Amino acid sequence: MPSIVFATGNSHKVKEANAALNGAFEIIGLRDIGCEEELPETHPTLEGNALEKARYVHQHYQVDCFSEDTGLEAEALNGAPGVYSARYAGPANDAEANMNLLLNNLKGAENRNARFRTVIALLLNGQEYTFEGIVNGQIIPVKKGSGGFGYDPIFMPEGFNRTFAQMSTEEKNAISHRGQAIAKLRAFLMNEGMRE
Ligand code: IMP
Repeated sequence: MPSIVFATGNSHKVKEANAALNGAFEIIGLRDIGCEEELPETHPTLEGNALEKARYVHQHYQVDCFSEDTGLEAEALNGAPGVYSARYAGPANDAEANMNLLLNNLKGAENRNARFRTVIALLLNGQEYTFEGIVNGQIIPVKKGSGGFGYDPIFMPEGFNRTFAQMSTEEKNAISHRGQAIAKLRAFLMNEGMRE
């Protein structure tokens, strides 16, 4: 089975990606290639950060790899927290603090529309590719569910009356921002990237 490095230290994301790629490719985490350091994320865009992380791993470890960056964009907040979603309430990437701050900032807001957006950057055979996934939904005022991670307990995807945190990994993957971006990556790898 062909393998590819997923440049993330987040084991939830590796688990999600492995489920989504459905055995077609083996996903290897950063620890498997001896990379323990924090990857640089210095750009003001998801695209910029995703490419920066993939380039870093490619340069330092000489492997084909993909990386992703995700943001939660609230309409009433002009797209915030967006690219700063992880550090919204401070550098600790504390999910509870991030959710509490977002709920506070949306207090009284009539427009609770939001979307998760993921950009995946792939570095394969010296070429760069990007894939985007978007899921629209609502920020609900009270946290619900204990699955998933990050902002999942307050995000209810369009067409559902449950949050991402109330769904199984498979259910979330089928509709999520990252699930959609990974599906595009998978199709690309199957059709083009790993043909030889
Ligand atoms: P990252 O930059 O992709 O690691 O994610 C940015 C922020 O969004 C972090 O605070 C994550 O916890 C959060 N996040 C990313 N993906 C998801 C998701 O699928 N559900 C909920 N929160 C997420």
